[in-house]
Amino acid sequence: MVRLADATPVIVDTSIESGYKLTPEQLATAITPATRLLLINSPCNPTGAAYSRSEWQQLGEVLAAHPRVLIGTDDIYEKIWWADEPFSTLADVCPALYERTVTINGVSKSHAMTGWRIGYCGGPAEIITAMATIQGQSTSNPSSVSQRAALAALRGDQGCVAAMNAEYRRRHDFFIPALAALPGFECRRAEGSFYAFVRISRALQQLGLPDDQAFSALS
Ligand SMILES: Cc1ncc(COP(=O)(O)O)c(C=O)c1O
Repeated sequence: MVRLADATPVIVDTSIESGYKLTPEQLATAITPATRLLLINSPCNPTGAAYSRSEWQQLGEVLAAHPRVLIGTDDIYEKIWWADEPFSTLADVCPALYERTVTINGVSKSHAMTGWRIGYCGGPAEIITAMATIQGQSTSNPSSVSQRAALAALRGDQGCVAAMNAEYRRRHDFFIPALAALPGFECRRAEGSFYAFVRISRALQQLGLPDDQAFSALS
């Protein structure tokens, strides 16, 4: 999608040691005069990592020095959350960045409505207006059935969201230690979402395999 917009995607690698999170130093180094957009997802697919308020604050300080950079935060896993502190997002923690932040969310994860194609976002009026213009002229659109269903999901009793969160947490608490106990597997706890992201470098060494694809092909 970035290439479709004639831009160049720059992926900043993270590691298990940094909790699969972008550090302020990495962000500062990655931003160049050509940078137009920072896209960040927390809790993250596929690592489950999420930024704390103080981490957002530090990233926000870097971004404050680059007023041309637009920010997109994908908060779709907001409701699948069990970290000690409540969920937070950049625009909330750094109000100075609010005017250039597009906050993305949807019902796919919170209300198990993947496939209903209902996402939504808030951001600068000119960007949201342009998005509506493009979408209004394309054949891709959320169906009226999906819209009604999403409305019912958001206005109805939210008990099922908390119940599913508890269930996701139960699965997480069982699954992560079980995975991490496997020989050569390293897996950190997630703050939220429903992913387990395993580093298998040691397992590859032990098994004499070249890469993760070879590992997946083991029978
Ligand atoms: C980070 C992230 N954002 C957005 C989505 C969008 O979900 P959907 O297209 O079902 O609304 C997903 C789904 O996997 C996701 O993982």
